[in-house]
Amino acid sequence: MIEFRDVHKYYGDYHALRGITATIRPGEFFSLLGPSGCGKTTLLRTIAGFEGISSGAVLIDGRDMAGVPANKRPTNMVFQSYAIFPHLSVAENVGFGLRRDTRSKEEKAKAVAEALEMVGLKGYGSRAAHALSGGQRQRVALARALILKPKVLLLDEPLSALDKKMREQMQVELIRLQRQVGITFILVTHDQEEALVMSDRIAVMFEGEIAQLADPETLYRRPNSRKVADFIGTMNFLPAKVLSESSDAVEIDAAGFGRIHIEASQVMGGATAEGATVGFRPETLTILYEGSAATDRESMATIEEVVYFGDMTYYDVRIDGTEAPVRISMRNVFGRPVLDRGARARVGWSPGALVLFR
Ligand SMILES: Nc1ncnc2c1ncn2[C@@H]1O[C@H](COP(=O)(O)OP(=O)(O)OP(=O)(O)O)[C@@H](O)[C@H]1O
Ligand SMILES: [Mg+2]
Repeated sequence: MIEFRDVHKYYGDYHALRGITATIRPGEFFSLLGPSGCGKTTLLRTIAGFEGISSGAVLIDGRDMAGVPANKRPTNMVFQSYAIFPHLSVAENVGFGLRRDTRSKEEKAKAVAEALEMVGLKGYGSRAAHALSGGQRQRVALARALILKPKVLLLDEPLSALDKKMREQMQVELIRLQRQVGITFILVTHDQEEALVMSDRIAVMFEGEIAQLADPETLYRRPNSRKVADFIGTMNFLPAKVLSESSDAVEIDAAGFGRIHIEASQVMGGATAEGATVGFRPETLTILYEGSAATDRESMATIEEVVYFGDMTYYDVRIDGTEAPVRISMRNVFGRPVLDRGARARVGWSPGALVLFR
């Protein structure tokens, strides 16, 4: 559907896109995720045709878009700061893109009503656009883009201006909307949770390059570098020593964990100068209580910090034999006490949940 072939983009001397190669599938909910300034908006704009590229190619449906102006591309974009016209009504805003359309007035009004219904604003057409909340304005911007029936909808941080509750609600609605209309959505966000929740696949970008492109679960469970692991959620790192290796496994010794057998599928690149490290998510370790289900392995630890979150408790624990504390997240269960700072605890874990960066 959309293909980037070794796309480079320079702004003067500044190398903003550094060899982007990727394919976005038809009907996919695809996200570009990365820190501020990594090139997300720039990449999105190369699809829309608002930005020329310095070398490489952008193809839509197999057709090279070089020289095809924005208004001739089957795309539509909802901008980072959603620009709606405050002096127009909601219906006039939504119908704005139809002003050169040759359909009758009645047909256009019907299309506007349909688009408004799609975004949950049925009956709002005659409202003044300035008399809307942030979330409602966002929906107007979406309806205005959808009414043109693009094959690809490009969304540049469309939810960033909304508060947390509204953002979560709109995330669910965007997913529903995308399933309903079946068009390709490409979302730019620097919010990793938002990307995980919404996307079929995510491209994680750093400094003009795609560091990893994968589905949310793979990105979370098998990040291909420490940098990606750090950007997506929380990951603990402990130093490891490689004892031996074969083509399908590595034996390591990690302080506090002892000898561990690591399958090749758990071995990633992207180590830092510190050398090999094992990484694990906070929920892959459990504090064992009397009667807890057995885990593959166990270590002893001291609880150094307790952060109570209602449904969850985060413990910073120091596993015996290690230097730095690691974070463990535990779901709170009725009748099970939250442990105190200073308490000793048994920590259960499984080698399969670890990732080795080397
Ligand atoms: N028109 C321009 N001229 C020169 N440099 C630009 C231009 N537009 C963007 N840049 C630079 O290119 C880099 C990527 O910008 P871009 O807007 O794509 O980042 P982004 O990932 O969308 O960031 P944010 O999350 O802050 O929106 C930045 O360093 C930016 O300063
Ligand atoms: Mg941007």
